[in-house]
Amino acid sequence: MTQVVYFIEGDGIGPEIWAAARPVLDAAVKKASAGARKIEWREILAGEKALNETGEYLPQETIDTLRQAEFAIKGPLTTPVGGGFRSLNVALRQILDLYACIRPIRYYPGIVSPVRNPEKVDMIVFRENTEDVYAGIEYESGSQEAKRLISFLREELGANVDLSAGVGIKPMTEHGSKRLVRKAIQYALAQGKPSVTLVHKGNIMKFTEGAFARWGYELAAAEFGGQTTNEADEAPGSRLVIKDRIADNMFQQALMKPELYSVLATPNLNGDYLSDALAAQVGGLGIAPGMNCSDQLAFFEATHGTAPKHAGKDTANPGSILLSGAMMLEQMGLPEAAALVQNAMVKTIASKHVPRDLAAQMEGAVTVGCREFGELLLAAI
Ligand code: NAI
Repeated sequence: MTQVVYFIEGDGIGPEIWAAARPVLDAAVKKASAGARKIEWREILAGEKALNETGEYLPQETIDTLRQAEFAIKGPLTTPVGGGFRSLNVALRQILDLYACIRPIRYYPGIVSPVRNPEKVDMIVFRENTEDVYAGIEYESGSQEAKRLISFLREELGANVDLSAGVGIKPMTEHGSKRLVRKAIQYALAQGKPSVTLVHKGNIMKFTEGAFARWGYELAAAEFGGQTTNEADEAPGSRLVIKDRIADNMFQQALMKPELYSVLATPNLNGDYLSDALAAQVGGLGIAPGMNCSDQLAFFEATHGTAPKHAGKDTANPGSILLSGAMMLEQMGLPEAAALVQNAMVKTIASKHVPRDLAAQMEGAVTVGCREFGELLLAAI
C-alpha cells in the first residue's frame, strides 16, 4: 500500500534537514512493513522556493492541494518581510484551520538537560491554535481604535481602563475549546494514556481560561462519559482521568512531579510557553517534533526556524523534522516504523556522534554534519 505525503522543503536549512531525514523515514517504513507499505512523497511549494518559481510565497495551488490532503510535512519557512503575511506559518494555520498544535516531549539519553531526572518527562501538549490572544485583535496605545474601544469599555460597560492603554482582545469559544479537548481525549484513549490535564488560568480569567476548563470537563462527560473519570474518583480503574491545573502550578508540577502528567490540553498562550519550557527541560528544544492539525489534515513540521547562519553549511540538526516524521508514521498506522526512527535516534545520540548543536552540550562528543548524522541514523535502522 502506498500513502501520499505532501512535503514543503522549507527555507534556510530546510532542504538539508529534509534531505537527511527523508531516507530515514523511507527505510523505517520499508523495514517495519517488510516492503508492504511505501510513502509517495509529492512536493508542494511555499516560501522562498515558491517565490522563485511562481512569484508567490504561498501559491494557491499549494493551498488547494493541502485542503484535500491527509498528511503533509514541512521544513521551516522564512517570515517574508513586507510579503503581506504576518508569518507564513500563521497564514497556513489560519487558512487550513489547523486548530490543534501537538508537541510530544520525551527525553533522549545522552542529551544534557538542566534537571536531575529528565527521563521522568513523558508528556504531549495539545495546544489550541486559533483563538486566545493570538487572534491578533490588538490596538496600539494612543491609536484611534484603542481610544474608541476604551471609551466603549468605560462608558458602556463601566470598565476602569486607562485611556492611554494599549489593548488586546482574548476571544475563546466553546466550540474552539471543545474541539481541542476532544482531540486530546481521543488521543489519550487511543494510546492508553492515564490522564488528560486541562491547563488554564481560570482563577483570574474566569470567562475565557476558566470556561476552557469547564467546557473541557463538560465535553469529557458528554462524549466520553463511560471512558473517563475525574481526580476525585478513588478507583478510576482503566478509565482516563480528566484533571485540571492552574497554569502557574502546572509549570511547578512539570519540574517537581512530571511523572504525574501525560496528555496536557491548553489554550493557545499557555501551550506556547509550556511546550517550549518542557522541551527545554529535557534539553531537546532543538530536536522537538510537532504537528498542527485540522479534522482532515495532519501537518507535521520542524518546530525551529530556518537557522540562516547554518544554511548550506551542513551543520544543522535534522532531528526535529525527523522526529516529526516519526510522529507522522505513528498516525499513519505505522507505529513500528515510528519506533524504529525513535530507537535510531536514541542509539545515535548515545553513540555521541551528533550535530554541532548537540555536541556543544555533550562531553566527549564527536561533531558530525547534517548529512552524516542522517547516514548514521539510516545505518541504525
Ligand atoms: P531559529 O529557530 O531559526 O534559530 C534559533 C537558534 O537555533 C539559532 O541559533 C539557530 O542557528 C539554532 N537552530 C535552529 N534550528 C537548528 C537546527 N536544526 N540545527 C542547529 N541549530 C539550529 O529562529 P530565528 O533565528 O528566530 O528565526 C529565523 C527565521 O526562521 C525567521 O525568518 C523566522 O521567522 C523563521 N521561523 C520559522 C519557523 C517555522 O517555520 N516554523 C519557526 C521559527 C522561526
